[in-house]
Amino acid sequence: RNAMRIAPSLLSANFARLGEEVSAVIEAGADLIHFDVMDNHYVPNLTIGPLVCEAIKPYATVPIDVHLMVKPVDALIPMFAHAGASIISFHPEASEHIDRTIRLIRDSGCKAGLVLNPATPLGVLDHVLDQLDLVLLMSVSPGFGGQSFIESVLPKIEAVRRRIDASGREIWLEVDGGVKPDNAARVGAAGADTLVAGSAVFNGGRYREAIGAIRAAALQ
Ligand code: DX5
Ligand code: ZN
Repeated sequence: RNAMRIAPSLLSANFARLGEEVSAVIEAGADLIHFDVMDNHYVPNLTIGPLVCEAIKPYATVPIDVHLMVKPVDALIPMFAHAGASIISFHPEASEHIDRTIRLIRDSGCKAGLVLNPATPLGVLDHVLDQLDLVLLMSVSPGFGGQSFIESVLPKIEAVRRRIDASGREIWLEVDGGVKPDNAARVGAAGADTLVAGSAVFNGGRYREAIGAIRAAALQ
């Protein structure tokens, strides 16, 4: 594999100086900015919305990768598109009409992603894979940064990689949750091409070293 995108999750950034944090991780090699939106309803935590996305947009010289953990989801899509999102991903459990939500995202000019929780079966991809730009596999249950990587997701990554390759389309395969330098090799070998990392990037304070270590491991 010759491409491995690293998407630092702002969830573990210093929220008192978010713009500087965005600039710092981009300077350190980030390919995307992962933006976690939680509503205290679909997930038991509350984070940031379109206003904050718009506020960081001037600092984000790489695409903003919005991960919506909200229910319902549709009304927020045009708002995030206007706020500068490039990619918008949502959980099928949070949408009454998955096909409609994907169309809303694409019609708003963004790339569309579907997010599968660790226990969500791959069958949800059956009738929509040809309309997706990205599949995001959760390797923790959504809601919090700093959780441990769930190993049973590794064969799931392999299975989605096979489906994407069989589709013949360019669909990104992103993995989110507990990704660290010490498991990134297995995540990359399983077929991921885009890795989210929150605590592994922000907690040590050495962004370039952390991003470099994850990327190097994943490309092994
Ligand atoms: C979890 C979020 C993740 C999280 C990743 O609900 O979707 O993006 O911030 O953080 P780490 O890398 O610390 O697991
Ligand atoms: Zn996320």
